Amino acid sequence: MKLADNKATLSFSNGSPSVDLPVYHGSIGPDVIDIRKLYAQTGMFTYDPGFLSTASCQSSITYIDGDKGELLYRGYPIEQIASQCDYLDTCYLLLKGDLPDATQRADFHKLVINHTMVNEQLQFFLRGFRRDAHPMAVLTGLVGAMSAFYHDSTDINNPQHRDISAIRLIAKMPTLVAMAYKYGIGQPYMYPRNDLSYSGNFLRMMFGVPCEDYKVNPVLERALDRIFILHADHEQNASTSTVRLCGSSGTNPFAAIAAGVACLWGPAHGGANEACLNMLEDIQKMGGVAKVGEFMNQVKDKNSGVKLMGFGHRVYKNYDPRAKLMQETCNEVLAELGLEKDPLFALAKQLEKIALEDDYFVQRKLYPNVDFYSGIVQRAIGIPVNLFTGIFALARTVGWIAQLNEMISDPEYKIGRPRQLFTGSPRRDVPTMAKA
Ligand code: SDX
Repeated sequence: MKLADNKATLSFSNGSPSVDLPVYHGSIGPDVIDIRKLYAQTGMFTYDPGFLSTASCQSSITYIDGDKGELLYRGYPIEQIASQCDYLDTCYLLLKGDLPDATQRADFHKLVINHTMVNEQLQFFLRGFRRDAHPMAVLTGLVGAMSAFYHDSTDINNPQHRDISAIRLIAKMPTLVAMAYKYGIGQPYMYPRNDLSYSGNFLRMMFGVPCEDYKVNPVLERALDRIFILHADHEQNASTSTVRLCGSSGTNPFAAIAAGVACLWGPAHGGANEACLNMLEDIQKMGGVAKVGEFMNQVKDKNSGVKLMGFGHRVYKNYDPRAKLMQETCNEVLAELGLEKDPLFALAKQLEKIALEDDYFVQRKLYPNVDFYSGIVQRAIGIPVNLFTGIFALARTVGWIAQLNEMISDPEYKIGRPRQLFTGSPRRDVPTMAKA
């Protein structure tokens, strides 16, 4: 970051001495006011619950222009990445800062594909769960449990450990997600195969059975790969900030990623795709498109507590570029599967049309986000609704790792420890307790 000529001067109406605060430029996007010395100079904290105006770090991985609806991975527009790269190219880019050349690409693909098996003991770990456990509960446990199996790569401050744990996590997440799914439906696990692509392997581990060969559908393979790309990283979102804060204590990478999985589960974040599909199904049951108006009135009624899931975003105040690409993928998959008339897809498009013309949404700059169409695509592929967020976690693992590694490699990083505005009781003494 570069010190700006400009500086911020904080003055107080009560005559307290004003304070000059340095301003820094990034390469693109808003400047920052450096408040690191504010408490020492003023005895005051800033106050920003939800961090609406707070930059928690400097990063060179992903950039979002919320007003333009632009998303860049290491400077490359998501639209170009999604159409010209595959997910493992995207992993290489996010982890190393540049796209691989042909040799680097072949080596990286081979390295990841050859690490897709998990320790056999993990299947006994799964047996502790009820068969109807939510897959995100299982995944949170399995990812955390990885730190019990890979003792040779748990030192976050060791670059070699960071490299191998990154490969292990990226390679094994599809296997773990598929195992959580198979466990829930009582089917045997399918071992990964080294002759399949990353996405093709996942499809086979999910939908293959030992009794017959599984033929990967190239359209679904490409669609899944694109879903992974679109979810790979997204600046300092809630789960990424969780991973950074968790990792800042020096804990092992598996524990930090498990914390990210747990945070992503929430319906306001990664759980929105599951919540959005459930919302569409509920409206369908109510009467479908004919009932959209009634549903939208509920959404606009503050007391209803009803939100249009898959809409709105803290940063995007324009169309989430991922939602556009997801809608395209939706069209491709539904056409491939002869589901063009999927009523939920028609319902989603009608909801989007009405929302984008409605003042409530226009005024609040609420547009479809990545979760609005992703559920429809995944459902068409055959992925159960309660596994949607597990797919999101699988794809976001590389972003979490890249951000964690960036933090650990930053000489300025220290353990995260926010302060507070205390509003509780001042010091008081425990009353003498009357003897019973
Ligand atoms: C993801 O951060 C990331 O980058 C996340 C993510 C990633 O890749 O990591 O992009 C993935 O989490 C996408 C978001 C998925 N969540 C949802 O789709 C859930 C529905 N969306 C909302 O919960 C909400 O839009 C958030 C949580 C996404 C953003 O909330 P903010 O930024 O805190 O905004 P807000 O709640 O203050 O909303 C501003 C106004 C409020 O109305 P007023 O109080 O001003 O009258 O907009 C309203 C909100 O009530 N509003 C909605 C709405 N989202 C916001 N009203 C109806 N439906 C919605 N979905």
